[in-house]
Amino acid sequence: MTETQFTPRVFSGIQPSGNLHLGNYLGALKRFVDMQKPDIETIYCMVDLHAITVWQDPKELAHSTRELCAGFIAAGLDPEKSILFNQSQVPEHAQLAWIFNCVARMGWMQRMTQWKDKAGKNQQNASLGLFAYPSLMAADILTYHATHVPVGDDQKQHLELTRDIAIKFNHDYGVDFFPITEPVIEGAATRVMSLRDGSKKMSKSDPSDMSRINMTDDADTIAKKIRKAKTDPEALPSELDGLDERPEARNLVNIYAALSDQTAEQVLVEMGGKQFGEFKPMLAELAVSKLAPISSEMAHLMGEQAEIDRILAKGAEKARAVAAPILQQTYEIVGMVGAKQG
Ligand code: TYM
Repeated sequence: MTETQFTPRVFSGIQPSGNLHLGNYLGALKRFVDMQKPDIETIYCMVDLHAITVWQDPKELAHSTRELCAGFIAAGLDPEKSILFNQSQVPEHAQLAWIFNCVARMGWMQRMTQWKDKAGKNQQNASLGLFAYPSLMAADILTYHATHVPVGDDQKQHLELTRDIAIKFNHDYGVDFFPITEPVIEGAATRVMSLRDGSKKMSKSDPSDMSRINMTDDADTIAKKIRKAKTDPEALPSELDGLDERPEARNLVNIYAALSDQTAEQVLVEMGGKQFGEFKPMLAELAVSKLAPISSEMAHLMGEQAEIDRILAKGAEKARAVAAPILQQTYEIVGMVGAKQG
C-alpha cells in the first residue's frame, strides 16, 4: 500500500467486447475477487465506453455487458461488497476524461503500444476515441481517487500514463488532489499466453478459438483445448530457470499455478519430471473444477436479465455518489463557474 493521504480504494475495469477469457480471469477478475475484503472499498466497472472505441454491434454490446456482469458475480464478486456497474451510466467518467484530454499530451498518447497495435498502419482511419482511450482510463480510476488498480501486465503502460496525468494535473493547478495510483500486477498469471503460440498473448481478438479458454466454455471444451495446447517434447523441469526458452511450457505452468493459488516454483516442485502426457490431464482437471462452475453460474445468471440490470443500476448509483463530488472539486480547481462541492 502507498503512503498517501488517500484512503485505500481499489478500482478496475474490463471491456464488454466479446468473450471473457482465461487471461481476463487469471490476470484480472480472480484478483478482483481476492481484493474484495471488508477493510477496503472495491469498485469494478464494465467499461462500455471503452469498448466502442472500436465498432460494436449495439445488441452484442448490451449482451456482452450483461454477460460480463454475470461473469463478475459468478467468479465471486458480491454486489453487496463491491460496487459493480457499467461505465456509461456514471457520466463523471466521460466528463473527467475531457479535462484529462486537455492535460495529456499528444506525444504521450502516440507512445502507447496498445494504440500502435490496435490502430496499426491505418491510424488515419482509427477513431479519435481509440487514440484518447488512456485518458478515459485515467478518468475511470481518478474519479474515485482510487489508489490501487489490479490489472494484467498489458495495462502497465496505461497505468503509468494515469500517474503522469495525475502528476501533471496536480502540478499545473498547484494542488495535491489526485492520488498517484499503484498498479497491482501480481500473481502467477499476469500475462496468460495463447494456447497455440506461446509468444502471443491470449486475447479475444485471436481468430482461433483454440488459442483461448472462454469463461463460457463447457467442461469438455476446456479439457479439449488444454489437451490440444501447443507444448514441447521435454518433461517439466523442477526449477523455474528450466522454463527459459520454453514459452508454451511456462504458460501452462503459470496457468496451473494461478488456478491452484500457488507460485510457479511450487508447481514445479510437485510436477518436475512429468511429461505433458501426464501434466495436461491434471491441468485440464484443475481448470474444469475451477472454471466450469463459473461458466454454469454465468449461464444461470444470464437467465435473470432483470436482476442483472437491477444490480448494474444500483451499482451505478453507488458509484456516482463517490464520483460526483470528486468531479465537482475538479471543476472547482479548474475554475468552472457554478461547480459545487458535493
Ligand atoms: P481488457 O478488457 O482488455 O482486459 C481486462 C483485464 O484483463 C487483463 N488481461 C490479461 N491478463 C493476463 N493475461 C492476458 N492474456 C490478459 N488479457 C487481458 C487486462 O490486463 C485487464 O486487467 N483498458 C482496460 C480496461 C480498463 C481499465 C480501466 C482497467 C478501462 N479502464 C481502469 C483498469 C482501470 C482493458 O482494455 O482491459
